Amino acid sequence: MKIGILGSGLMGGALGLALSQAGHDVAFSYARDQDKLERLARRANGTAVSVAQAVERADVVLLAVHWSNLDDVLSRAGDLHEKTIMTCCVPLNAANTQLVVGLKESGAELLARKVPEARIVAAFQTTPSEVFA
Ligand SMILES: NC(=O)c1ccc[n+]([C@@H]2O[C@H](COP(=O)([O-])OP(=O)(O)OC[C@H]3O[C@@H](n4cnc5c(N)ncnc54)[C@H](OP(=O)(O)O)[C@@H]3O)[C@@H](O)[C@H]2O)c1
Repeated sequence: MKIGILGSGLMGGALGLALSQAGHDVAFSYARDQDKLERLARRANGTAVSVAQAVERADVVLLAVHWSNLDDVLSRAGDLHEKTIMTCCVPLNAANTQLVVGLKESGAELLARKVPEARIVAAFQTTPSEVFA
């Protein structure tokens, strides 16, 4: 499958490399350092692209940004109609000390309200990035 990764940090990078090893075609986006995206792309035999390009080509979008970056990354995503978005995001405050969503609604449910045109799957929220290697 073509996987578009939005957020290429600890989770996006590790999952992208693992997905590539499993035979998927991965495109990395959304980091402040373009060299980092390109290094990841080389390691995964994938590509370094913009957020909109990652979404456009994707069968599945992996959303792996800090919760505080959610609106920014969605604003760059373009058309998410009928896209499947797999989110590993935990709705934490900037200091990562407290949930900012819950306990009556999940981050994934809130995301589904923000992008009702997409299909949302929540995964890996309780899996530390270190284990994917
Ligand atoms: N880390 C874990 O073990 C873990 C486990 C389960 C769930 N989660 C959740 O997964 C999500 C991602 O966590 P993470 O640890 O992978 O975070 P991270 O390492 O900080 O990665 C976030 C990515 O977003 C990019 N970014 C941040 N601000 C940006 C901006 N203004 N413009 C463009 N790119 C920007 C970062 O770019 P740079 O690379 O340039 O910094 C980085 O590539 C979070 O919601 C977290 O709660 C994390």
